[in-house]
Amino acid sequence: MVQSSMVPEPCRVLEAIRQTPKEVLLVVAAPQQAPFQPEPGQFVMVSLPGIGEAPLSLAALPGEGTPEGTFELLVRKAGRLTNLVTRLVAGELLYVRGPYGRRVAWDQFEGSNLMLIAGGLGLAPLRPFVRRALLRRERFRHIDVLIGARNPDELLFRADLASWKARRDDARVLLTVDAASDGWGGRIGVITTLFDQVHPETEDAVAVMCGPPVMYRHAIRRLLAMGFYENRVWLTLERRMKCGVGLCGNCQMNGLYLCQQGPLFSYREVRHLSEAV
Ligand SMILES: Cc1cc2nc3c(=O)[nH]c(=O)nc-3n(C[C@H](O)[C@H](O)[C@H](O)COP(=O)(O)OP(=O)(O)OC[C@H]3O[C@@H](n4cnc5c(N)ncnc54)[C@H](O)[C@@H]3O)c2cc1C
Ligand code: FES
Repeated sequence: MVQSSMVPEPCRVLEAIRQTPKEVLLVVAAPQQAPFQPEPGQFVMVSLPGIGEAPLSLAALPGEGTPEGTFELLVRKAGRLTNLVTRLVAGELLYVRGPYGRRVAWDQFEGSNLMLIAGGLGLAPLRPFVRRALLRRERFRHIDVLIGARNPDELLFRADLASWKARRDDARVLLTVDAASDGWGGRIGVITTLFDQVHPETEDAVAVMCGPPVMYRHAIRRLLAMGFYENRVWLTLERRMKCGVGLCGNCQMNGLYLCQQGPLFSYREVRHLSEAV
């Protein structure tokens, strides 16, 4: 097992790429004091001295579409810390501890059809799943990537979307927005309107979803109706976190510690949590 220190390590921002007026993608030099080998679905605790600390999902893993020794974070301005983090520029430091969260054995996702679903900011934690699945393309049958945003201006990772769409034979990438703006020639509607277009064979298929609870409620109903098994529908849950390692109890939901036992769960594990799904 990879141990993570509780002591934040200063890590240099290598690049800060504005995605939208509210969101910035940071390319960061990975911590060096312990092996930094995150899995898709994990997160890090990020801090600035004297300001605060917050959990942020890993939006790219070292060596998986990103150079070895670096990782990426997609940061949305929400409050004091994230406002300052989105203003960092190349060369400045932010403090990182982790990776934290459950390490789900990747082979559980392989061997069948894979459906990857992201709503809004959920594309940040979902991106390492898409990247790894495309890197190991031969281990899957069909790959469908379904992405929804509130409007075209809020679509994240446009460069990735273009390159994933260009790999037409490898994966089907479908986008939709809740409301269009000028120049949008794509689909309009909530994300479940894309479900009719995906490959129908669901025997042993796996779905991984990252997005808001309202998306989960509708998407889960559709997936189960399509024949997905409850233990093969995966989703990430969010809760306010303080320690990130199962000590403070802040992230507890009905006895589940989201920081340690999650944030990635199968639907079967959390279907009893009405506040989550
Ligand atoms: C596992 C996990 C992964 C996350 N990944 C990302 C990510 O990749 N990118 C990103 O931009 N944000 C992510 N977040 C949310 C991020 O942690 C919060 O936006 C951040 O803590 C806000 O800190 P702040 O000091 O800037 O604002 P604060 O002043 O602490 O909060 C600003 C506002 O955000 C709300 N808020 C804080 N945390 C959460 C939360 N967990 N869920 C809903 N509302 C919250 C507060 O209630 C308040 O209204 C993630 C959260 C979790 C639990
Ligand atoms: S954040 Fe402290 S126990 Fe989960």
